[in-house]
Amino acid sequence: MTTYNIALLAGDGIGPEVMKEAVKVLKLVEERNADVNFELNDVLFGAAAYFATGKSFPEQTKAACDKADAILKGTIGLNHEDSQKIPVDEQPERGALLPLRRRYNTYANFRPVYLPKGLAHFSPLKESVVGDGIDIMLIRELVGGLYFGEKETGVDAEGKRFVREVLEYDEDQIRQIIRVGFEVSMKRKKVMHNIHKSNVLKSSVLWNEIVEEESKNFPEVEVINILVDAAATYLCLKPTMFDVMVMENMFGDILSDQGGGILGSLGLMPSACKGPEKSYYEPSHGSAPDIAGKGIANPYSMIGSVALMLEMSFGMEKEAKNLWAAMQSVFANGYSTSDLSKEGEANLVSTAEFGDMVCEELAKMPV
Ligand code: NAD
Ligand code: IPM
Ligand code: MN
Repeated sequence: MTTYNIALLAGDGIGPEVMKEAVKVLKLVEERNADVNFELNDVLFGAAAYFATGKSFPEQTKAACDKADAILKGTIGLNHEDSQKIPVDEQPERGALLPLRRRYNTYANFRPVYLPKGLAHFSPLKESVVGDGIDIMLIRELVGGLYFGEKETGVDAEGKRFVREVLEYDEDQIRQIIRVGFEVSMKRKKVMHNIHKSNVLKSSVLWNEIVEEESKNFPEVEVINILVDAAATYLCLKPTMFDVMVMENMFGDILSDQGGGILGSLGLMPSACKGPEKSYYEPSHGSAPDIAGKGIANPYSMIGSVALMLEMSFGMEKEAKNLWAAMQSVFANGYSTSDLSKEGEANLVSTAEFGDMVCEELAKMPV
């Protein structure tokens, strides 16, 4: 029997709603795999933690994460108005999420942008553009760049308010994520799009130099360099031209949300955040304050993050595949949450119903 300790950080907004479905799935996976035991440890994180303890990433949560084999995170954050009730440095993004990434150096963020042909109707793009489906592995550097650089705000000698934020990378930080890009490309189509902005940013000049150096270690991989602004256009016009895309932190934040856009919803965007010793898993989307509490959020990104955890942290590849297939079956049976279906359609289901259906489909599959 192998026991895996998982820290559950449900967070804010729709976080607890989609986490509930993830837990349902984990319990079923445990039931189906007699040699696996999940020890689930629910802890406070984000605004919920701040209002309960005065800290958005409390010590108790840090301790639970430290001892966990993997961390499963829901979503954090409040709407703009409610966010102002929390001091800037304790707001869940700065006070909890970035420190979580920093604490475990989760530098490699995998954000699959995936829509099989059978689900092409969810995409706002034309059928002729989606072709045989979209299958991109977007890899985002997650612990460097503007997010973590020095920041200063103040008033200058003339009395004008100013702000300065530094975009900083050293070559080791760049090299480690570029290597991940090459390694993933080797397992896929051996074509890697390197996203950069070297016509303006010096950070991209160094980034590209390192891509070129590393490409010598992966001679089978074709590297295609593309400016980030052009990449945004191509993602809409010709998404099928991409397989692996690798990029720095901020570019990855923006392009991965666009990824959700071309699929039809951010509810279709799971992710894995991998560090040298520990990884955590989270939907790419936020806490969706506009739909929180209504029971209508799409739990696919959250359950997909469970599938990534099973595969990447616990080596349960087969069960992860079963879980992806179970989710695709629910869609193939015609059911979806309201982000993907129109009001009044008979096949519209709630968050909990979608989770139940995933479990029903999974239960039918041989272990
Ligand atoms: P968001 O991703 O929360 O929502 C954008 C839009 O997508 C909304 O219309 C929302 O309803 C929809 N959406 C997102 N996830 C969905 C799902 N699973 N099912 C159905 N619809 C879904 O982005 P936002 O509104 O810009 O941000 C809200 C808060 O979330 C902010 O406080 C932000 O900082 C935070 N945030 C947190 C994370 C995270 O926890 N990793 C990621 C992004 C944003
Ligand atoms: C994401 C989110 C975060 C980011 C925010 C909430 C800090 O948008 O995970 O994509 O910008 O990285
Ligand atoms: Mn984002």
